[in-house]
Amino acid sequence: MQLSERTVACGLINEQHLNKEVCLAGWVHRRRDHGGLIFIDLRDRTGLMQLVVNTENSSTVHEIAHKLRSEYVISVCGTVVERVPETVNKELATGKWELLVDKIEILNSSKPLPFAIETTDSIDEELRLKYRYLDLRRPEMHQNFALRHKVIYAMRQFLNEQGFYEIETPILTKNTPEGAREFLVPSRIHPGSFYALPQSPQLYKQILMCGGMERYFQVARCFRDEDLRADRQPEFTQLDIEMSFIQEKDIQSLIERLLKYVFSAVLGKDLPIPFKRLTYDEAFSSYGSDKPDLRYGLKISDFTQAFADTELKFLRDVINKGEKIGGVHVAGHKFTHSELNRWVDKAQKLGAKGLLWIDLESPDAISSPVAKFLPKDFFARAAQACEGIENGSVLFIVAGEYETAWEILGSLRQELARELAIIPQGEFNFSWVTDFPLLEYDKKDKSWNAKHHPFTSPNKSWEGQELGAIKARAYDVVLNGIELGGGSIRIHDRTVQEKVFNLLGLSKEEVESKFGFLLEAQELGFPPHGGIALGLDRFIMLLTNSISIREVIAFPKTARGIDPMMECPTPGENKHIKEYGLQLIPTKKE
Ligand code: AMO
Repeated sequence: MQLSERTVACGLINEQHLNKEVCLAGWVHRRRDHGGLIFIDLRDRTGLMQLVVNTENSSTVHEIAHKLRSEYVISVCGTVVERVPETVNKELATGKWELLVDKIEILNSSKPLPFAIETTDSIDEELRLKYRYLDLRRPEMHQNFALRHKVIYAMRQFLNEQGFYEIETPILTKNTPEGAREFLVPSRIHPGSFYALPQSPQLYKQILMCGGMERYFQVARCFRDEDLRADRQPEFTQLDIEMSFIQEKDIQSLIERLLKYVFSAVLGKDLPIPFKRLTYDEAFSSYGSDKPDLRYGLKISDFTQAFADTELKFLRDVINKGEKIGGVHVAGHKFTHSELNRWVDKAQKLGAKGLLWIDLESPDAISSPVAKFLPKDFFARAAQACEGIENGSVLFIVAGEYETAWEILGSLRQELARELAIIPQGEFNFSWVTDFPLLEYDKKDKSWNAKHHPFTSPNKSWEGQELGAIKARAYDVVLNGIELGGGSIRIHDRTVQEKVFNLLGLSKEEVESKFGFLLEAQELGFPPHGGIALGLDRFIMLLTNSISIREVIAFPKTARGIDPMMECPTPGENKHIKEYGLQLIPTKKE
């Protein structure tokens, strides 16, 4: 039998098709056999349509319909009719109509599935990924990928209108230091040599600027061999951008306009721009993070002064060492003692030596494990240190070295907000964090590393400054407490680049072997330039309110870095190992 030509998609049946003959194709979503009448919900990527097969009309059709099981692939033709009012399904876009089937074909059968399409939420993720094609049949997945497509399409449209060229850069390349480990690919024709998969197209896009391309973008695949989390994959996609003859404000404005365009074109929402801007120092001192979630308050305040003359030994010691006492304050919520003690445990899990809670019921009634050691005017002192203190406010105090204490307070702030359910849902709160430090100190390795990457330009008058105090011309765009993208103005001058490599402790030989081509290009008319990369998977995850980026990547790896469908990675085959001139050293299983 010849396949009937599909004339319309299931979910698109409407008034226009009433009393007309149409042909549909799709998967049997559900089948209810009432003897003389069989009802089938037919599903394609646009939605569901109810089919009715009546024995009286044709016994052949009925016979075939009787054989159908879930996920059979079929093609049907028939007439669209109105359902009787009692059977109208308001939940369904096509719920007013049904198709009286007069022709049906089985295009393929299906064995019973390892899990039902409708219930995959409760299914082990490894099983979902092993049968990703079944998982992808779910309407939520279709919505995620439809949105992903529309977002990328809108981005391409916007950047095209702004005069950008989309240019591809190599996947087999040399390492670019972006802070993660690389994936290596052995070369057959150069035994003992390896390509690295790009952590990002960073150096290629800069070189494109040297090549006079001026405005570049790419929907770029990046590879980083790092520990996986809900918002991290070893293989992910960036919207990568680079421009010549620009300043920070030009890139930031471009991204704001791009996101505004995407919100309007894809979500039909107006995104207010410009976004709020905070320096790294402001973000860290108020939120203990370089990616603050600004959808709620709970700012961190410095209480060191309020405890200046404290008799409490552990706080005295902190002050004497020049360290800090910070705190988050919650107003309008009554905590029980056992709840407060649970917060102490939580803070310890976050790495704090301890957490001090102080319940400021009123200026004369303060309860806390250390209440009797607090000065009489503590309420007033607290109110001076921190805005919004009122009767009933509760302080959560952490003391210690500034960065460690503030990071813990930052995490505590997030957990408090989650538990107190004060995070507004459905809001998209974008901000820029600017003026990052150029370098960060690695206490373990006792060395200075680039905070962004070594090609980031230091701020003006940086020379001679203490290393930790040098600021970079770097910026991140943050959405709801997640780093959505990062970029910088780059170094285009060889002398500056060499000085920065030097600060990073790279020897002349190392610089020459790794970055000789860049230094040479910087002496051959390299224009001033800068750029940014947005994490596309993270963006779609946030837009679709998904719990992980794995929900918006078609074939992601599990948290253990495995693809359970293809079953990779796979052990090296001897013939390949030989061909590549490699030797495997047995490693102990942990
Ligand atoms: P950066 O390393 O900050 O900058 O990366 C830019 C954005 O990419 C996303 N991202 C990831 N998404 C998923 N999984 C990962 N493992 C992962 N790692 C990063 C984040 C991040 O903000 N070359 C520079 C950009 C530039 O300077 O122009 C770079 O890659 O959303």
